[in-house]
Amino acid sequence: MVIGLLGFGTVGGGVYEMLRDRMCMDVKYVLCLENPEGLAGKLVRSVDQILSDDTVDTVVEVMGGLHPAREFVLQAMAAGKNVVTANKLLLAECYEELTKAAAQNHVALRCTAAVGGGIGWLTALERCKRTERVHELTGIMNGTTNYILDTMQTRGVSFADALHQAQELGYAERDPAADIDGEDILNKLVVSANVAFDALLQKADVPVFGIRSVQLADMQTFRERGWCCRLIASAEHYGEGVCAVIEPTLVRATDMEAAVHSNFNLISFISPNAGKQSFYGQGAGRFPTAYNVVQDLLDVAAGKKAFYAPLGARLPVDNDSFVRQYYVRTTLDDPFLSANVAEIWPTGIVTAPLSAKRMHAWADDALERDPGLFFAALR
Ligand code: HSE
Repeated sequence: MVIGLLGFGTVGGGVYEMLRDRMCMDVKYVLCLENPEGLAGKLVRSVDQILSDDTVDTVVEVMGGLHPAREFVLQAMAAGKNVVTANKLLLAECYEELTKAAAQNHVALRCTAAVGGGIGWLTALERCKRTERVHELTGIMNGTTNYILDTMQTRGVSFADALHQAQELGYAERDPAADIDGEDILNKLVVSANVAFDALLQKADVPVFGIRSVQLADMQTFRERGWCCRLIASAEHYGEGVCAVIEPTLVRATDMEAAVHSNFNLISFISPNAGKQSFYGQGAGRFPTAYNVVQDLLDVAAGKKAFYAPLGARLPVDNDSFVRQYYVRTTLDDPFLSANVAEIWPTGIVTAPLSAKRMHAWADDALERDPGLFFAALR
């Protein structure tokens, strides 16, 4: 296998190092705009040099971002090259375009590292679907937010300090807003649901509430009542549609998710024969992510061409039947909340059961009046 590596950042460097002693995998080119040491003779500034070399059969895209990653990947496939990528944003935004391009050009497109970092989550879904349908998936899919919530709750560290630590440790996205406001986990949920349900979800259809406004006082309240806060993505396939939502969620201190510390991820799916299966591991970081890129390369080298799932029809998202009680902290004196109070906690109220559709619609509107508002579903 002769490889062109697009990107030499945290993940790219890890992939390069893991492949260095693998005789059957030759990284012939590295596309990088800086001048890292030890790449003599491999460093190129233009993707054309890689795409025009017929000896390169596989391109590894670990640049991240949408552009020019999308253009480079499409050009690579059009040139007959297999593609392995860890880019969840690219997959979530261009799922239909990329999976069609791979099929039309008879090349492989693999992206296991895009969801769950070092966890073989997408390949587990792929294997499950050989025997049955997946009807539900749920989990902690973002290491940075888990690190922040866990560090706040267990060590009493402020949100800002916990975020800073996550950045120092290399878990956070270049712009950490993508982590704390939920875009990163949204990308992962969309790709997972598309694979799990043979679907085509649109990001804009999935309501998202992140953890930007959580405070230590909220954490204290949760701890005193035996709850633990996690940012959880959920999707459920029913009839002709899906419920899909991303929101801070209070789990019982004895639940599995509460035992997920630091930047670890825990993702589960439910299928008729296997029941619930959960996958735990490093969801971010240099070598865990590089590990799954290399696993994908080995699959491609072994001749695997098919994508994880067939491309399905666009599925509507409707969260009317996704009903929870919600913890809400706000400075607003709001008639909707007043009409739905079930309990009063020291820092906020707990609502009567509400659909995720109503709760997120209310919060979208209320945030304009109280930007510091925080809410979390009780599971
Ligand atoms: N920022 C991401 C996370 C990196 O924290 O999970 C891995 O996708």
